[in-house]
Amino acid sequence: MDKLLISGGRSLEGSLRASGAKNSALPILASSILLKDKLIIRNIPHLNDITTMIELLSSMGAEMTVSENMDLEIDSSKLENPLARYELVKTMRASILVLGPLLSRYHEAEVALPGGCAIGSRPVNLHIDCMRQLGAEIDIVDGYIKAKAKNGLSGGNINFSTVTVTGTENAVMAAVLAKGKTVITNAAKEPEVVDLVMCLKEMGAKILGAGSDRIEIEGVDSLQPCDYSVMADRIEIGTYLTAVTMTKGNVVIKCSLPSVLETILEKLKLAGANIEINDEEINLEMDKTPNPVDITTAPFPLFPTDMQAQFIALNSISNGKSKVIENVFENRFMHVQELIRMGGNIKLEGNTAFIEGNTNGLTAAPVMATDLRASASLVLAGLVAKGQTKVDRIYHIDRGYERIEEKLNLLGANIERVSE
Ligand code: UD1
Repeated sequence: MDKLLISGGRSLEGSLRASGAKNSALPILASSILLKDKLIIRNIPHLNDITTMIELLSSMGAEMTVSENMDLEIDSSKLENPLARYELVKTMRASILVLGPLLSRYHEAEVALPGGCAIGSRPVNLHIDCMRQLGAEIDIVDGYIKAKAKNGLSGGNINFSTVTVTGTENAVMAAVLAKGKTVITNAAKEPEVVDLVMCLKEMGAKILGAGSDRIEIEGVDSLQPCDYSVMADRIEIGTYLTAVTMTKGNVVIKCSLPSVLETILEKLKLAGANIEINDEEINLEMDKTPNPVDITTAPFPLFPTDMQAQFIALNSISNGKSKVIENVFENRFMHVQELIRMGGNIKLEGNTAFIEGNTNGLTAAPVMATDLRASASLVLAGLVAKGQTKVDRIYHIDRGYERIEEKLNLLGANIERVSE
């Protein structure tokens, strides 16, 4: 199994290009099911989760051509098997994103229920409820969601009791080919939802309000081929900017996203980073021990839960006390025990982590990655720790960070991938 060996203590310097956003690419890939023709998707990140979604679509009969730079042409015209098997779904919860498009196109679908997950129970009840609102009959049989809409889906009102990102995306994709109008309230406002909607609109879908908490969809009979480029990954960018802040570095990240990174950039400024932004790049420079920053996670536009672990790592080496409250997932503190093993001074009470910065710095230790973002926080801790940190189970990192050690080494880090 691959591990990362990180020799800490180097500042990150240089420039970096952001990858395409995993959380946009996944629903956009799933949206290809809605199209009985070719969809070209550009700027897809090279990640294990993307490979899983591609395998899932291929297992249903979609045909793919991938160019050298990972531009993907998907031809779903021969897709004929609306079944998402457990073997693939169990490795990636986002596989549930095929439920809406399959029901919309085939009026039936069988999708395995995703199992448990390291960051909480993460049920899919809201996905199921919204399909019922659009007229689907759903039974859970032998671990599978068996969904049917004999006469096709019909528009309806969907009011999410909790803001759900993939739930909103599933509802939008289901409604695109449904008869009549669908109104989604308490919709997720995440930029990745907007990216999916922009792609669907390029295909001819009629959608208003993406980016607000009310999305209206007027069903159409069919969609047309399109060529779409996925937005940059704001969480990848945020993770690297946090790494630069922690290592007292100076890095330019080429991307065109500053507006959707606002809350993350604000917190990094509070930590003491100098940040200059324009339409095409972000330059972050840091020359001192970070100040502690309090964080409360919540749906967009507030602070993203996917950056919480990285900020606990940053607060662990800050010059004071901070508090990090996790409001989105119930059990997303698996990184805390590992950071404590590296010298972090962190106490957990319910959904709150109390951190006292250790200005003597962290020390290297063998640590275990437990989920995607938790793993990222351990890599950041390793970059500043004294000695060599060994991060085990890095398949979690490979699910969401494209060539992480190559990118960080380009900036001057010393990270080696080893198989043991
Ligand atoms: C997406 C992102 C993930 C991010 C999360 C929150 C993708 C592929 N993944 O995950 O990186 O951390 O948004 O920003 O885009 N919930 C229910 N029932 C449901 C669905 C969700 O109770 O049917 C709860 C969840 O347990 C959680 C909350 O709703 O407490 C929000 O989760 P949700 O937004 O659905 O997360 P995902 O879409 O799975």
